[in-house]
Amino acid sequence: MALLEILEFPDPRLRTRAVPITEYDDALSRLIDDMFETMYAAPGIGLAASQVDVHRQLIVMDCSADRSEPLVFINPEILARDEVGVMEEGCLSVPGIFDEVERAQRVRARARDRKGKDFECELDGIRAVCLQHEMDHLDGKLFVDYLSMLKRDRIRRKLEKDRRERLAKVPAGAAASR
Ligand code: NI
Repeated sequence: MALLEILEFPDPRLRTRAVPITEYDDALSRLIDDMFETMYAAPGIGLAASQVDVHRQLIVMDCSADRSEPLVFINPEILARDEVGVMEEGCLSVPGIFDEVERAQRVRARARDRKGKDFECELDGIRAVCLQHEMDHLDGKLFVDYLSMLKRDRIRRKLEKDRRERLAKVPAGAAASR
């Protein structure tokens, strides 16, 4: 398994629309395993393939406290939404930023698993919100898009500054060996 690089806002590649998956092969299985490893290491509760620069409709999620509920959603669709509410969200592609977003707190979804088998499920609370957040990634959308333009600009400037500081801290030798 391998840790994958997570793209960060405002990287334009995060705006790519993902295409449906048609091949359920070993390469897909490896990608799913790598995405789980990357998500758990981050640590995060959800990761869309778009965030690791693979623009296919694949999401991994685990909203449990003890990493006991790994879920895979391939080519997901929302069949029904209910109970709009507000929850604080964060995103591995927008590190260190948290803000409130309004979404359905209950959804019914259909997707395929890693073997290509169709399934339907009902999710509520954080699981419902997480799936909608990850499905937005597949459409090239980020949670900061729901915030005001003023807030989004402030976040973009902060992340660009953080990234410059991070790069400045890398010793010359380490940078050359990348
Ligand atoms: Ni995210």
